[in-house]
Amino acid sequence: MSANELWGGRFAKGPAEIMERINASIDFDRRLYRQDITGSMAHSSMLMDQGIISREDGEKIQEGLQTILREIEAGNFKTDPALEDIHMHVEARLRELIGDPAGRLHTGRSRNDQVATDMRLWVRDTMDHLDGELKALQEALLGQADAEADTVMPGFTHLQAAQPVTFGHHMLAYLEMFSRDRARLKDARARLNECPLGSAALAGTSFPIDREMTAKELGFDRPTANSLDGVSDRDFALEFLSVASICSMHLSRLAEEIVIWSSAQFRFVECSDSFSTGSSIMPQKKNPDAAELIRGKAGRSAGAFTCLLMMMKGLPMTYGKDMQEDKEPVFDAADNLQLCLAAMSGMISDISVNRVVMKNASGAGFTTATDLADWLVRRLDMPFRNAHHVTGSLVKLAETKDCGLEDLTLADMQTVESSITDEVFEVLGVDNSVASRVSYGGTAPSNVRAQVASWKQRLAGE
Ligand code: ARG
Repeated sequence: MSANELWGGRFAKGPAEIMERINASIDFDRRLYRQDITGSMAHSSMLMDQGIISREDGEKIQEGLQTILREIEAGNFKTDPALEDIHMHVEARLRELIGDPAGRLHTGRSRNDQVATDMRLWVRDTMDHLDGELKALQEALLGQADAEADTVMPGFTHLQAAQPVTFGHHMLAYLEMFSRDRARLKDARARLNECPLGSAALAGTSFPIDREMTAKELGFDRPTANSLDGVSDRDFALEFLSVASICSMHLSRLAEEIVIWSSAQFRFVECSDSFSTGSSIMPQKKNPDAAELIRGKAGRSAGAFTCLLMMMKGLPMTYGKDMQEDKEPVFDAADNLQLCLAAMSGMISDISVNRVVMKNASGAGFTTATDLADWLVRRLDMPFRNAHHVTGSLVKLAETKDCGLEDLTLADMQTVESSITDEVFEVLGVDNSVASRVSYGGTAPSNVRAQVASWKQRLAGE
């Protein structure tokens, strides 16, 4: 095998077949083609403007790059592992198209700053897409919150029925989580938005390049300030993966709730046929596979984050080929997150809520016990600790009678606490319970409606 055309000057012979295989990244980094060509367009414009290359060569380079872009988009791009990566593929094709001037494109640049730039551009585009998908999911949740502002369901702690809440309030809880994910993306994007192009291999270059110009042309806020850091930093990818992992964790929690709620034991919701599958042996089954896959894929995002973190750990400055391994976890996490967000938005929009079942379940498990204790405090001026104790005794009494708190007679109650009056029954119903929770952020339908209105306004402005 002959030596590499682009860097093989000092080599007598080419690499072993296995070396070529371990070295090549083209199978996955071909996804960077658009960013790579955009970066090269900006770099060549700058080289022309600075008089580092002639206009004539620069224009040939740019026409050639546009042709390559069209070829790749049309699906006519042959890859060859001997050409390693997308950067060398583009340059090799440019040489075929325009001959010698192609060799001038790489002046004052290295693949190290080139790939760092390409990856930032790719992650930035992905962040922008994801923000839109997160917003769509927020809108789906908001739609359910609006429709189910008054729907009572059991609220859980420890997955034990705790206090009645509203389904709308529950949907809004997820809306809050996804809004934090969007804020994290925005924050990470602002830090990412510096351009490493022109850091060259690691030390900068002696050519009179204009880094402000390329940074601006590529939509970055400024060039990175240190060339060593410019080529060796992958924090932006790590931050992206950490945001993706947290967001996937949120999705997995919602997915798990859908799995629980749609089970025959709960029957709180029913997933639409479009987001369910059947069983090949059990004809009665309707499985929430989309929710399960979303739950499962959360493990993958966390794995991608850990993978990149471990890959970067202990790497000496500056670039190391290890860093070629940054791409697959980033691509995989981005693809899966996009898929999961779209599936979750569809599932949430389509879900049908079983209001009667939820309401009946809301009272089970003495969920209004806290309301009873609060009533004892308010009406009988009992210290809360005593009220807690008295209520505990009433729960025990109801348990022995195998009934709900609201099914106890006043006489039953007075055996435990003689000053209880029949006004107590007003707070024992689940509707009264939720309606009374009007503290800021509480579950009362009136609060939910106010939150829905303010979210509608907020999302419309984003
Ligand atoms: N394919 C390489 C990567 O993704 C590009 C940079 C190669 N740089 C080098 N010095 N060999 O990291």
